[in-house]
Amino acid sequence: MDEPAGTAPPPLPALRGPWWRDTTVYHVYPRSFADGNGDGVGDLPGVIAHLDYLEHLGVETLWLSPFFRSPQADFGYDITDHTDVDPSHGSLADFVHLIDEVHRRGMKLVLDTVLNHTSIEHPWFTASRSGRDDPKRDWYIWRDGQRADGRGRPNNWRNMLGGRGWHHDAGTDQWYWASFLPFQPDLNWRNPDVKAAMLGVVRHWLDLGVDGLRLDVFNAIFKDASFADNPRSLRPLPTGSNPEGFFQRPLHTLDHRDTFALARELRGIVDAYDPPRFVVGEVMGASGVLREYVGAAGEGLHLVFMFDTMGTRFSADGFRRLLADAESAFPAPLQPTWVFSNHDRPRAMLRLGDDPRKAKLLAMLQLTVRGVPFIYYGEEIGLSHVEIPAELGLDPIAARFRWVPRWLARRLRGRGILLNRDECRLPMPWTAAKHAGFSRDDVVPWLPLDPRSGTINVAAQDADPASLLATYRRLLRLRRAHPALHRGAMELSSTGQSAAVLAYRRVDDSESAHVMLNMSDATVDVELPVGVHALHSTIGPCVEVTTGRRRLAPYEGIISLSTDAGPRPAAAAGTRPLR
Ligand code: GLC
Repeated sequence: MDEPAGTAPPPLPALRGPWWRDTTVYHVYPRSFADGNGDGVGDLPGVIAHLDYLEHLGVETLWLSPFFRSPQADFGYDITDHTDVDPSHGSLADFVHLIDEVHRRGMKLVLDTVLNHTSIEHPWFTASRSGRDDPKRDWYIWRDGQRADGRGRPNNWRNMLGGRGWHHDAGTDQWYWASFLPFQPDLNWRNPDVKAAMLGVVRHWLDLGVDGLRLDVFNAIFKDASFADNPRSLRPLPTGSNPEGFFQRPLHTLDHRDTFALARELRGIVDAYDPPRFVVGEVMGASGVLREYVGAAGEGLHLVFMFDTMGTRFSADGFRRLLADAESAFPAPLQPTWVFSNHDRPRAMLRLGDDPRKAKLLAMLQLTVRGVPFIYYGEEIGLSHVEIPAELGLDPIAARFRWVPRWLARRLRGRGILLNRDECRLPMPWTAAKHAGFSRDDVVPWLPLDPRSGTINVAAQDADPASLLATYRRLLRLRRAHPALHRGAMELSSTGQSAAVLAYRRVDDSESAHVMLNMSDATVDVELPVGVHALHSTIGPCVEVTTGRRRLAPYEGIISLSTDAGPRPAAAAGTRPLR
């Protein structure tokens, strides 16, 4: 019953809701995916060259981190032209080719949009800082210093990295605000011209046929117009579920009510497009705050990231709590998101101790729970983490935190904070060639390769039906083929199973999928539900089964299918219609 290697995924079944509710997203960090033009840096032609691979993998939507014009001080998150392609990544013609090729395959394309700030080299900022009377002055956030001599920051606000976010401009003797790094000045969204220009950027890409946008640091867009000090706090470090940290509460700098209003406004803009598009917000906070971005009746952002996924201990209990929380914060037809790695955080494989059994189990969880999965490039082959000392880092964060001793950097990494993000952006290993097929043998990639690339690469796993890559392919096909798995309601169950087993059921009109994940290193016995007929395992091929007892190996996950759906979980059955 397994798909033979090499077959194309089945056509997408007709879905009841908009496509984005049920899609699977693959996140490409363009600099690190594939070097198409031979300069050691990944680019759009490199992505195009690997679309067959992605189609065969079975992912439905691609999200590309920024490839817009940029001095590359933050590798594209510092933009000088939001509507042009940086020459290091290709050209606008390459972009048009890319979107055509993606759509020709029935896939979708999502771009990263940085609405909060620009590069310090953006012509808008150059004009803005040229004089207090410049027409672009008010496009950024400028304030006087607190002291009579102009010195002394305007208030106590800290940026998202814990530093002081105000930067003095000697030429005009005022301070500008930057939520992230000093070379990324924040735009002043309270200026209607700025708002119009940035919403114009949104429309520009949607008009070109882009299917969705990922909104960078969306929670920072509006700052309080009072410029009052943020309250003090005892919390040293922020976390995914609580942005309070660096000894202050970001009351006036994050999650402003005007940002929630902007979420609703954006929803209106995006929903006016046909076929439907979506936006996913990079926001942080407890599930209540995340839900506010989506809106009480789903009238805000279509999706938001849930970063608690990356801080959850690998245990049935930990994930049970996470799933219960996601189900209650985002009841159907709202959708949670499932992300275990990205270009800012330690890769999941590090947390999993490089154990492929655990990686297969996590993949089964990610691709069978209710919600939209975001797979980070390389995750499907178990691309792992390599420690790169901060002094060798190209990442501007590494430059900033070079003074942090290595033992502390390691400890922070264990807590999900990466001081050198190069570590999670290593070149994609395609083959066992000198530069792993990422770039030509005579061209050195922009970042070092994972030393294990000789064995951990796409070509090696392609040929191995027991590989992590093969598991991802099987799971993605299974998810696509079974409505219960891509659009079914979800019910967490614990009845009769060992505490080490995370068990849940996905239910659609005509079928049920029962998922059981043994999250321990011990063998456990589980009772298969009545009426199941086929069983997929993270170890071994699909088999016919009948009801009964099944032994799960350490870290084995299984999905068993039954055609009798049984009663639908109450939470989904009684949900009032949302947009
Ligand atoms: C987001 C991006 C990160 C970038 C930052 C500033 O957090 O994910 O990579 O450095 O915003 O744009």
